[in-house]
Amino acid sequence: AQQLKGRDLLELNDYSPEEITYLIDLAIELKQKQKNGEVYQPLKGKTIGLIFEKSSTRTRVSFEVGMFQLGGHALFLSKNDIQLGRGETVGDTAQVMSRYLDGIMIRTFGHDKVEELARFASIPVINGLSDLAHPCQVLADYQTVYEHKGKLKGLKLAYIGDGNNMAHSLLIGGAKLGVHVSIAGPEGYEPDAAVVAEAREIGKETGANIVITRSPQEAVQDADVIYTDVWASMGFEAEQLAREAAFKDYQVNEELVKGAKSDYLFLHCLPAHREEEVSTGVIDGPNSVIFDQAENRLHAQKALMAALMG
Ligand code: CP
Ligand code: NVA
Repeated sequence: AQQLKGRDLLELNDYSPEEITYLIDLAIELKQKQKNGEVYQPLKGKTIGLIFEKSSTRTRVSFEVGMFQLGGHALFLSKNDIQLGRGETVGDTAQVMSRYLDGIMIRTFGHDKVEELARFASIPVINGLSDLAHPCQVLADYQTVYEHKGKLKGLKLAYIGDGNNMAHSLLIGGAKLGVHVSIAGPEGYEPDAAVVAEAREIGKETGANIVITRSPQEAVQDADVIYTDVWASMGFEAEQLAREAAFKDYQVNEELVKGAKSDYLFLHCLPAHREEEVSTGVIDGPNSVIFDQAENRLHAQKALMAALMG
């Protein structure tokens, strides 16, 4: 726990399995405190800046509310309003913000910008989503699976669709936690080969089996968890039509989920496009835990901020 103080979170590969498990356990503990009406304010007097270069509902609200509940203060910094959007360098922004704040969250496009911010900042930098990774989401996701299944190691997660930021962080996080991850998507939309190789390397230590396939049926076979995400992520809107064509056989629907375990969980980071990547019957069905998952963003990030900034 102590070793997390002052660290960044750019992607989960920065963290050991024990550190990730510690954060999940802490999130569950803070969730319980919150439900019991217990006031817990280890970040009194601390401030986090939230830089957004892309839209957000969950990330913004959960960071702002989470910081408030921990006794601190959060500033919403839209790129339209700060000088970063007018060409001030990432390095100058990082060094200036380090003089005022105790932490920075950034949501942006290229992952290199997150890395550059972290390089120049003297305070913890948290990746609130880049084109490469979405580690905060995945902390909440595995917390949700753990709460529903009582374990993580040895479970099978099937991710159907685009090999995007979600696929990457689920791969790395799953590999760290000993969760078998199978990803199915069409040609040209595979997850980054370097991320897959890294997940496989991590999996050798933890026992996690990593499979990349074209077949959604193969991926969901006996799965404990089925996960999907939008076909066109933020920044890829212009490709919407081409992607609808490429992904048409990759919808998570009643037919596909038949291959999974009967008590499978359905997860989606949200926002969702119903009847595109997932049928209404599945996302609104009895196996769906999407709102538990969305709620856990709050608890997971409270744990993260308390650990890094406390
Ligand atoms: N899942 C997620 O990060 O949602 P927002 O884009 O609404 O923050
Ligand atoms: N892959 C999606 C996730 C949104 C939370 C995107 O990057 O837009």
